[in-house]
Amino acid sequence: MSFYITTPIYYVNAQPHLGHAYTTIAADVLARHMRQRGEDVFFLTGTDEHGEPIADAARAQGLEPQELADRNAERFKALMPRLESSNDFFIRTSDEQHKARVQQVLQRVHDNGHTYKGMYEGWYCPRCADFKVENEIAEGNRCPIHEIPLERQQEENWFFRLSAFQVALERLYAERPDFVMPKHHFNEARSFIASGLQDVSLTRARLQWGVSVPWDPGHVFYVWFDALLNYYTALGYARPGEDLTDRFWPAHYHIIGKDILKFHTVYWPALLMAAELAVPRHVFVHGFLLGSDGRKMSKSLGNVLDPFEVMDEFGTDALRFYLMRDVAFGSDGAVGMESVRARYDSELANEYGNLASRTIAMVRRYRSGALPEVATDPALAGEFDGLATQVAALLDRAEATQALELIWLRIRRLNRYVEERAPWVLAKDPESADALDQTLASLIEGIRVLSVLLHPYMPSSTQRLLDALGGSELTLDRAEFAPRGGGGTVADLAPLFPKRA
Ligand code: ME8
Ligand code: MG
Repeated sequence: MSFYITTPIYYVNAQPHLGHAYTTIAADVLARHMRQRGEDVFFLTGTDEHGEPIADAARAQGLEPQELADRNAERFKALMPRLESSNDFFIRTSDEQHKARVQQVLQRVHDNGHTYKGMYEGWYCPRCADFKVENEIAEGNRCPIHEIPLERQQEENWFFRLSAFQVALERLYAERPDFVMPKHHFNEARSFIASGLQDVSLTRARLQWGVSVPWDPGHVFYVWFDALLNYYTALGYARPGEDLTDRFWPAHYHIIGKDILKFHTVYWPALLMAAELAVPRHVFVHGFLLGSDGRKMSKSLGNVLDPFEVMDEFGTDALRFYLMRDVAFGSDGAVGMESVRARYDSELANEYGNLASRTIAMVRRYRSGALPEVATDPALAGEFDGLATQVAALLDRAEATQALELIWLRIRRLNRYVEERAPWVLAKDPESADALDQTLASLIEGIRVLSVLLHPYMPSSTQRLLDALGGSELTLDRAEFAPRGGGGTVADLAPLFPKRA
């Protein structure tokens, strides 16, 4: 099966921050998991470089938009390996191939009769690049997301006949209850549609920084249509000399934050229908990361969690783990350095890292590092029955936090198992040699299985651990607790998550 997954493309008006890291990490977890299942995966991320958000920021800094875009796109590109993101391509909307394909698709929308020229008048947020409809306007004519005053705009634009897709969208939502996930966001999108769709600007006459409109060269396309189409255009040129569209279209998952729900769950499927392209299988909408005080993160409130600081102090795997663990994926949640420290100490250093270190140390001390090849403990094995299948079923629904919780319950189970079996007591009594063999083999097997399952969340440390255990295939079918374990040698392992001073 082909599995195409995307993140939003991020605005290059400023530098990458935690929110960008969050969506990228979540999408990466799903992409890596699907690769473990042997699926044909394509994972896309990139940058959104047109429109007012960039033109305005460039002007404020005395730069050309392209200069600002080039500078910040490099920062986003450099973020990806830092996060251990395994994206297969990084798209920039200033790529020539992207622009050409946007023109092709939107020309078709125009030729199909879904556009007309008209006068737009209404409220606009230049940071969202969003024409707000009535119920999206906060107190005092402000943007509910950026809290800045909205601008009154009046300009002659080409419009996209969104209203003509009212019935088709209602049908889509009626037929596909998992088109948007989780459910409360499905309901939100559905009620937005039910409130009655208005046509939207497809082009901008006033703006120059964008993809020019082939049938009316004085205009550029409204940035959102140019941006959304990245998901489609990228497949055309990500692999030079190869067109991946038939192999991967439509996307399995678009992962987005709830700030951009309307564009992805209303405009996007309508645009695709207008262009006679298949609509995505799922749009997964996650919540907002909030400051440690539960308020919106903002530099002036001093409640911002800096992903680079977390990675410098605790490592990339710790950041990835923390974000997937501490905030239920799909809901809002507060994050902060204090809770990073707490999770690191109690869960990563103690529960996982220490379980691995002490188990390896015991195999080395009691068995000189040679793992006896014996039957594992069937009772313990039984507690792992069906685990890989359950994890896969949750990740099919992008429930990354619940899947991690199921895995973590077994990490705790193995820690209890160490206490129950007390290998250091067994080691004192030669008559308990078989029991000690079985205990060590079972613990190592449990750690191996869990590390395979944890690999998408924490690629480096799980790999290091598996290497110390003598290596293990990373495919999901290897996440079964084997009836016999052992047989190899275990190597010394430096602490996976060193205790902090
Ligand atoms: O909207 N919590 O780009 P953008 C969680 N270019 N996620 C957050 C977040 C937070 N506090 N802040 C940002 C754009 N994000 C457009 C998208 S797509 C065709 C075009 C994440 O740079 C989240 O994924 O403003 C959100 O949807 C995205 O960054 C917005 O990034
Ligand atoms: Mg934004």
